[in-house]
Amino acid sequence: MKTVPMKVMPSILAADMANLEKDCRRALDAGADGLHVDVMDGHFVPNLSMGPAVVEALRHSLGPDVHLHVHLMITRPDRYAEPFIKAGADTVLIHIESPCDVPETLRQIRAMNARAGITVNPETAAHTIRDLVTEGRVDEILCMTVHPGFGGQSFIAEVLPKIAEIRAWDGAIDISVDGGIDRISAPQAAAAGANVMLAGTSLFHAKHIQQEMTDMRADCLAQYGTSRP
Ligand code: DX5
Ligand code: ZN
Repeated sequence: MKTVPMKVMPSILAADMANLEKDCRRALDAGADGLHVDVMDGHFVPNLSMGPAVVEALRHSLGPDVHLHVHLMITRPDRYAEPFIKAGADTVLIHIESPCDVPETLRQIRAMNARAGITVNPETAAHTIRDLVTEGRVDEILCMTVHPGFGGQSFIAEVLPKIAEIRAWDGAIDISVDGGIDRISAPQAAAAGANVMLAGTSLFHAKHIQQEMTDMRADCLAQYGTSRP
């Protein structure tokens, strides 16, 4: 199986919000490939989190080279993709379940020179995004491995076959996983074909974040593609 770059991006939802810049630098110094930013509106998911001002502040304080990976768990991502890109988002991920014109929003994200990602909730079937992927309209597919809304939940292993199904369509595209990703679940997701590990609690709450990320990346590389049908 073709190898893809294995990336690990900490989800800042689990960072110390009173010391966000310090925690982000700690993660970047430890080898993070970018920072995952969870945006929640209290409607699409039952929680509130960060807005464009946080992305803008991170871009300003961390500089131009840090990849900001912005996950919009909001009802109208079509209205907010632009402010997040203007604030400094490199990748904008929207949900296939969002009640808006999803293909058009993805097109607009790319037109603003950002990477466009499509996200699927645990219960959403792979076929709902098949045309978007096979027609080359997305740069990344995010398979949620928890129900979106909160950090610290348990990994839903039933999502693994869906990851393998999507990987079979495209051997090179980025497939990320988000929710309950740790040293046990990350290699399972990699075995199914995921190559971007988004992890909050397991990294920011680790005793040694650098060791945790290095080991996670190595275990994922070793397992990548091994459980594909
Ligand atoms: C969940 C968010 C995740 C969350 C992951 O709705 O999209 O990015 O921060 O947190 P952990 O790794 O703690 O499950
Ligand atoms: Zn997320």
